[in-house]
Amino acid sequence: MKNENKAAYGKNKNPKAANKKASPTKKSSLSKKKKDIKKNPGLKGSSSFRKLAATPRYRKHAERYQNILENIRDGYFEVDYDGNFIFFNDSVGRILGYSSEELMGMNYRQYTDKDNAKKVFQSYNKVYKTGEPAEGFDWLIIRKDGTKRYIEASISLLKDSSGKPKGFRSIIRDITERKLMEEKYRRIFENAQNGIYQSTLEGRFIIANQSMARILGYDSPEDLISGITDISCQLYAHPDECIQFIEMMEKQGQVKDFEVRFRRKDGRVIWVSRNMQVVRDEKGQVLYYEGIIEDITDKKDSLERLRNALGGTVRALASVVETRDPYTAGHQRHVADLARAIATEMNLSADRIEGLRVAAIIHDIGKISVPAEILTKPGKLTELEFGIIKIHTQSGYNILKDIDFPWPVAMMVYEHHERMNGTGYPRNLKGDEILLEARILAVSDVVESMASHRPYRASLGVETALDEIEKNRGSLYDESVVEACLNLFREKGFKLI
Ligand SMILES: [Fe+2]
Ligand SMILES: [Fe+2]
Repeated sequence: MKNENKAAYGKNKNPKAANKKASPTKKSSLSKKKKDIKKNPGLKGSSSFRKLAATPRYRKHAERYQNILENIRDGYFEVDYDGNFIFFNDSVGRILGYSSEELMGMNYRQYTDKDNAKKVFQSYNKVYKTGEPAEGFDWLIIRKDGTKRYIEASISLLKDSSGKPKGFRSIIRDITERKLMEEKYRRIFENAQNGIYQSTLEGRFIIANQSMARILGYDSPEDLISGITDISCQLYAHPDECIQFIEMMEKQGQVKDFEVRFRRKDGRVIWVSRNMQVVRDEKGQVLYYEGIIEDITDKKDSLERLRNALGGTVRALASVVETRDPYTAGHQRHVADLARAIATEMNLSADRIEGLRVAAIIHDIGKISVPAEILTKPGKLTELEFGIIKIHTQSGYNILKDIDFPWPVAMMVYEHHERMNGTGYPRNLKGDEILLEARILAVSDVVESMASHRPYRASLGVETALDEIEKNRGSLYDESVVEACLNLFREKGFKLI
């Protein structure tokens, strides 16, 4: 209240005096005017209205204004220099929760707390000093029943008929719902675990939340906003990822779950997942970007650890069969190398290639069900022995079928001895009934087997192996797989190591 004493705007420079004057609990020094109005309160009771209405010439105007004021949802009121109500419409009473009789002569300090009374005073003072109307003041008011509401007020000087200021007039609106909504969104923004931001087209942050600052290693959003002047140069750890991101933004206007590496303030590189979109005005002009980032460094690390663990498990499985069958040691790894090269040549996705590689490295796992004497037998196998060897596709499937790989590894293993014309085993599948990965596995298996040494024969050589698949392309082996394989060996110098 100290300031108010210094900057009093009205003729009554002591607000305490104003309060005293308006306090309903004290003997009021309110003028006779108030007593008159008490008898006949509200718009119609106002002296201005009564004066106008009494003059036939102005009656129509007075009634029209009265009608407008009584039917608008916004509150309209006039106060004297001390902030005491001297005129108001019904909405003011509705907003503040007082009857017209109670409102007349009431001072703003009676429906605000100490801090807000100060705000109201400052608002009036500003208008008084500048003489300019002002709007957008937010005040917290306390209604008669004690509930608190937010109002937005605009204020201008109230002048008498000679143009001399005599108080203020205001339009007020209850903005409680909007305030609560803003508060809710503000809390979400401030407490979100993900970084939320808006940035300019030039690459500066406009706003950012605390998490955004924390993820990027800054003390506060202000520190981040002032510290980053060029997002693409300062944040991206890999410029190619920045270019890729910008290209996607330009093409689609938004980017979802884009994983990039950012450099924190302390230089540490982290993985983040970015979601961003452009915000345009009604004419379609780009105003700014807004987005969310999530720190996925830990997720990436654990995914990497899982991938390593899976790789280790698969290698351990592969070694199980190879220790029982030293002649085929290295066979599965060589098949995996060739299968991966063929799949790459055929433009399969990185994910499918990874699944094929895993299946290839354990494709003969079912041979652990075949007696070692048969596996390592020198010379030709009898029909019965060959029949036993054939079981390895089924038992490989049985071993793998319950492992929840992200790819159909068990099926690839099951089908790696199927042939295009249905002469393979164990299910005599044909053409497209066989998984593409299994068709690639079949060609890789045949080429690797023929090109390497076996207990019952010496290596037949790569050329013989390639002749075999070329001769039987379309009948036993998938044509496009054979073509990719031949291309690798004959045009690209691929070698089985
Ligand atoms: Fe096999
Ligand atoms: Fe094999």
